[in-house]
Amino acid sequence: MTEKAKETPTAAATGLRGVVVGSSTVSDVVGDKGELIYQGYNIHDLAKDSTFEEVAFLLWNKRLPTQAELDELKKRLSDSYSVPGEVIDLLQRCPRDADPIDILRTAVSVLESYDPTARDISMENSRKISVKLTGQFATLVAAIGRVRNGKEPVAPLPNANVATNFLYMLKGELPSEHDAKLFDTCLILHADHELNASTFTARVVAGTLASVYASVVAAIGALSGPLHGGANTNVMKTLLDIGDVENVEGYVKKALAEKRKMMGFGHAVYKTEDPRATHLRRFSKEMGERAGDTKWYEMSRKVEEVMMREKGLYPNVDFFSASTYYMMGIPLALYTPIFAVSRITGWTAHILEQYADNKLIRPRADYVGPRNVPYVPIEQR
Ligand SMILES: CC(C)(COP(=O)(O)OP(=O)(O)OC[C@H]1O[C@@H](n2cnc3c(N)ncnc32)[C@H](O)[C@@H]1OP(=O)(O)O)[C@@H](O)C(=O)NCCC(=O)NCCS
Repeated sequence: MTEKAKETPTAAATGLRGVVVGSSTVSDVVGDKGELIYQGYNIHDLAKDSTFEEVAFLLWNKRLPTQAELDELKKRLSDSYSVPGEVIDLLQRCPRDADPIDILRTAVSVLESYDPTARDISMENSRKISVKLTGQFATLVAAIGRVRNGKEPVAPLPNANVATNFLYMLKGELPSEHDAKLFDTCLILHADHELNASTFTARVVAGTLASVYASVVAAIGALSGPLHGGANTNVMKTLLDIGDVENVEGYVKKALAEKRKMMGFGHAVYKTEDPRATHLRRFSKEMGERAGDTKWYEMSRKVEEVMMREKGLYPNVDFFSASTYYMMGIPLALYTPIFAVSRITGWTAHILEQYADNKLIRPRADYVGPRNVPYVPIEQR
């Protein structure tokens, strides 16, 4: 460790684990208790009693809405579902095999050019953009899902909530009430998670006073990685690869022996069960039972058992969301963008919080390279 790192010892902590870099009221993760709270409310209560729209209001406004406020937000979200035709054209021109999360990132970048207010980062306008992007994300991800399967995008329903509308626009038919409600709860569970990698990224970009769009684009980039939001797609790929519950034990042991990570397990903060996994495990079972095919749930349970026995690791949010979405008939490549359909609320809540009390985020590095190296002209090297 260099002298500089000794002066500020937290700088040397690998991956900033446990380092507190700022204060926030948006959400808290209590790793040893397995607790997650949004603006003071326990995630279990919100998952049981709330709706995604109500949670979005809560994250942005630090309190639950009145009925009139909720109605107003729903109306504004509904007015925001449509995206410029040029952006839909762009989705249609992207290569069919492009990763949907990359297309979403590009589309949000382009959306900025169609918003003349994009550079206005006043609180009032930033809130408007937060609502608008939340509506538009559902439309964009559903359209990306259809276009990559050679289908025309479906126009949004004016009066449906985000969960219903997303499933409707993706499949071209209204979801059952059960599926819409279950998906709504999935959106609640993914809405925020303190300073995870993508949210921290969003705050770093917002801290330069860049636009909401620029901050969100950066966050999508961070989300796409397999150690973050990209894990859910890889979980399903793994389950498909394993193929049968009988193969689980051998597969997992081999992966661990080869020092490969099993996606959907472990967490940088939780040292016990991720409270979101508790709900998603139930959803995976429920969806399997409704479809008369519990194979993926049973395989998941077996993987969970082997991972606990062999590594003492708990499943995280991505593990059971994979089999839940699979049983809802959602294509694998959309699992990470779906994460974004929900997390856009948390990202923007943090961006608003950053703007409200901004300080440029500029840490230091512990420089461990050489110094005073004499410059050698190129012809002498
Ligand atoms: C999420 C994650 C990055 C957290 O990382 P972390 O707490 O810093 O843990 P590390 O990556 O440093 O791993 C610590 C140890 O646990 C092991 N480990 C952690 N997650 C593991 C996993 N999913 N599968 C197998 N081993 C794992 C590591 O190999 C390491 O073991 P070692 O000490 O024997 O080398 C990590 O658990 C992971 O990569 N999980 C898989 C990806 C995933 O599901 N991401 C979504 C997160 S919500």
